[in-house]
Amino acid sequence: MEKTTQLYEGKAKKVFATDDPELVIVSYKDDATALDGLKRGTIVGKGAINNRMSNYLMQILEKNGVPTHFVEELNDRETVVKKVSIVPLEVIIRNISAGSFAKRYGVEEGIVFAEPTIEFSYKNDDLHDPLINDYHALALGLATKEEIETIKRYAFKVNEVMKEYFKGLGVTLVDFKLEFGKTADGKIVLADEISPDTCRFWDSKTNEKLDKDRFRRDMGGVEDAYKEMMRRVFGE
Ligand code: TMP
Ligand code: ASP
Repeated sequence: MEKTTQLYEGKAKKVFATDDPELVIVSYKDDATALDGLKRGTIVGKGAINNRMSNYLMQILEKNGVPTHFVEELNDRETVVKKVSIVPLEVIIRNISAGSFAKRYGVEEGIVFAEPTIEFSYKNDDLHDPLINDYHALALGLATKEEIETIKRYAFKVNEVMKEYFKGLGVTLVDFKLEFGKTADGKIVLADEISPDTCRFWDSKTNEKLDKDRFRRDMGGVEDAYKEMMRRVFGE
């Protein structure tokens, strides 16, 4: 499968057309942004780590009944995925308080919730991805009622599967962001990526941060954290 024209360049990935209208190739970059694109940098090796980790996790999720866009890993940085139209919602699941949740509600980080939470942000850079609820998403025509129900069901399933999987690697899954897409035949599938860019991972014993928060918060050791997550998942 060969790339043809570039369709899109995002903050962390490029998307290329292929000779199959139903497939595209994503190419992961080492570029990192945070704080709404205000903070920019490079995390050396990130593209390859996120590509491989995301593909691996999506294959586990497929086996557990969550359909994904994954088709075939081409090389370290490039993967063939189903062409989808992205539902403009960032779907965030939280198991433990952190980040914007801790800030918004004035609580410390690290409170373990009795039940996971779900929230949606409207994916719109100009509006800074505002928090919205199901009714707002419906009113704005971002998805149908059925699609929103499906997305919620899949998102909680992803949490169940990933929480257990990472627990086995000595990693606590604190929270994460998912994006879903609609295929040509109208099916909702998990899209985008699942990686240290989009999840908070804490070492189960020490609570050391093993994700992009090290970049967001200028903590140093960013590359080492990504490499450590790679080592936990692939043993390399
Ligand atoms: P938050 O606490 O900043 O709302 O982030 C919740 C989760 O979503 C966290 O795991 C990081 C992830 N996330 C993204 O993947 N992209 C984003 O643009 C933001 C703001 C968060
Ligand atoms: N990637 C997002 C941005 O540039 C933010 C983040 O992941 O924290 O705004």
